Amino acid sequence: MTPRKFPLLKKSLFRFILFSTILFIIITTLISSSFNSRQVPLIYSLSFCKNESKSLPFSIPESYLLIPYREFALRTSIACRVFKFDNPTKNLSSLHPKYSKYLNGIFPYVIPSQNITFDDIEKFYTDLSSLNYSKEAFVPRHTSFATNLTFANVPYIYKNGMWEPIEVQSYQRSAILVPLQGRHYNAKAFLLNLHAYFRRQLLTYAIFIIEQTYPMNKFNKGRLYNTAFNYIRQNKSLNITCYILHDVDLIPEHDSNYYSCETMNPKHTTSRVRQLIRGNYVKYYEFLIGGVLILTYNHYEELNGFSNLYWGWGGEDDDLALRFVQQKMCVIRPPFAVAIYTGTFESEKTLPHPKGQRNNQRFGLLLWSTIRLKTDGLHNIETLTRIVEVKRWTTFTHLKVNVDITNSKDTSLSTSKVTTTTAKLTPTTKKK
Ligand code: BGC
Repeated sequence: MTPRKFPLLKKSLFRFILFSTILFIIITTLISSSFNSRQVPLIYSLSFCKNESKSLPFSIPESYLLIPYREFALRTSIACRVFKFDNPTKNLSSLHPKYSKYLNGIFPYVIPSQNITFDDIEKFYTDLSSLNYSKEAFVPRHTSFATNLTFANVPYIYKNGMWEPIEVQSYQRSAILVPLQGRHYNAKAFLLNLHAYFRRQLLTYAIFIIEQTYPMNKFNKGRLYNTAFNYIRQNKSLNITCYILHDVDLIPEHDSNYYSCETMNPKHTTSRVRQLIRGNYVKYYEFLIGGVLILTYNHYEELNGFSNLYWGWGGEDDDLALRFVQQKMCVIRPPFAVAIYTGTFESEKTLPHPKGQRNNQRFGLLLWSTIRLKTDGLHNIETLTRIVEVKRWTTFTHLKVNVDITNSKDTSLSTSKVTTTTAKLTPTTKKK
């Protein structure tokens, strides 16, 4: 009997040791991870906040300064947890981009030659549309300024300030808002690529390039967006139902990244941006809503647009994201595979533009963003900026804006009436 009992005893001893080792590992891992997470400060000390507030132009209650913005943005997602994309049926008199027969999946972008002009782009697109509508006539002819141009020839017409597809009626009427200062080459590359992109999606659309002409030394993207939004909403005949806020240095690569407004939620379509030099895609933080944001009139109004206080590069989009949180709004994002872009920004050899001057005040401003929602934004934009010139091309409307009328030394800028002109093309010389 006794010799038989030994193996049994050994077995249970072995089990006991194994079980306690596993338990030990689990407990130590749990303890160390909770210790590590305590290492990351969840709130900045008040002394930090006090220092920050010294450099701010307003006095802010201390209680508002407890959220360290960087921590908050890195840990928070602005994406809706539960949502549905609009799902309209195929209807030719209200056609959603997803039913376009011209979609081509990943579409090659075009890098135009350095000396391309706005005239070239205008001629390229208007010549196509002015031809009689027949399949043959829509073969693009003027391609010499753009190498490797593959262009889906969609029958389009320019009518009352908007580009419309001839065969169907679009689901929505869209305004594309593109803020600009310098970077004219990027603007031309944008126009050349995006018209073809919008047409493949059968959008009814108009592009607004909103150029800041005063002051020249610091950029205010929020004011440019608010000014253009205000201008477009007053221009009732356009009857815009969807606003597309677009960085000038981003070119979408996939045709199924639909540029349509969703009824319930704003849509952030810039999930990944490809860098031309390295060729790989970069994913930004989950709280980001900059790049390309597509939203309705009501969404924009509810947010009171952008803050007008951000001068220089960065922050104004993060501030808008905080307005989303405050208004209990969230964004939806198209599938990861299609929300891809080519970034034509700084450090890129092919499409370079000067680095924007960083706004060092932005984290300080973000700390008290939510206090300002009602007073700082679309509602007070008319007291701050003025459109000094409107130039109408068919491929875009060029709004030139003084974004700081109170400090503008040039009184003619702040007092003279807006000049509205229609761009005149230089006569076409036949290209072979
Ligand atoms: C800036 C944003 C910018 C983002 C991505 C952030 O640090 O505050 O304005 O969109 O980086 O480049």
